[in-house]
Amino acid sequence: MQQISDITPLREIRRKWQNDGKTIAFVPTMGNLHQGHLHLVQQAKEHADIVVVSIFVNPLQFGPDEDLAAYPRTMEQDKAALEALGVNVLFTPKAEDIYSRGLEKQTFVEVPGLSYMICGASRPGHFRGVATIVCKLFNMVQPNIAFFGEKDFQQLQVIKAMVTDLSMNLQIFGVPTVRESDGLAMSSRNNYLTAEEREKAPALYACIQKLSENIELGRRDFSRLIQQSVDELTEQGLQVDYIDIRSVETLLSPGHEETELVILAAAFLGRTRLIDNIQVTLK
Ligand code: PAJ
Repeated sequence: MQQISDITPLREIRRKWQNDGKTIAFVPTMGNLHQGHLHLVQQAKEHADIVVVSIFVNPLQFGPDEDLAAYPRTMEQDKAALEALGVNVLFTPKAEDIYSRGLEKQTFVEVPGLSYMICGASRPGHFRGVATIVCKLFNMVQPNIAFFGEKDFQQLQVIKAMVTDLSMNLQIFGVPTVRESDGLAMSSRNNYLTAEEREKAPALYACIQKLSENIELGRRDFSRLIQQSVDELTEQGLQVDYIDIRSVETLLSPGHEETELVILAAAFLGRTRLIDNIQVTLK
């Protein structure tokens, strides 16, 4: 595996792959890799000749009161894991190169609507930061296909919308959430949980699973189901940010005829914000 931090050598090797007729898959990450990330890499390997993974903790997507400085950085461990999976290139750009004109002057990409709702309402500017960095990374790596986790469901929809709206020449592939054995969605932020919080954390997935089962059983009183879920989680010591039932396609409140839904949830355990989601098909 080759580690590249500068854009010029990345473009050179990219040109060589192109001349050799190779297809390129890309997995953008912020590092501190766990099985969820590595599952994306495995999927990428199955879909292309070459796999590029990036590790870049993107300052543009963190709010002023968020965990940019504390975000876990484990580069040596990450490198070993990617090497073992046979990744071709690890791209580790530097913030000063990525945002060479300064964060304030940086041209941005914003997907309106989708970026302002749900997580976007709690984290203003977050999806603008995500869309901007992902657009820049796509321009640098120029992959044929890129992989994103369904764990960050709204992020995946924002990226798909950006690719459609800006006629980007690549395919986006969504990968199901990888979970711990007790159901907790794997996340770098799980590292922040104390032992006591870690014990409570699976309640989030258990709760939306129960909600989805109720919907599958025919319940359509969504507001009541949501309120029950909020109450249950609050009782278990989680501070709910939101629980909502939306259309998979638009992330808007579902119309009567819609059958493909997603339950989205975010809750704090102490200072750690957990998110999760589950898709439901109405019969
Ligand atoms: P990060 O949180 O490092 O996640 C990188 C990718 O791994 C994302 O596509 C995310 O959805 C996926 N992922 C994380 N946990 C997962 C799990 N348990 N199962 C399946 N996939 C999982 O998401 C980001 O970084 C950033 O916003 C980024 C897209 C890199 C832009 O900076």
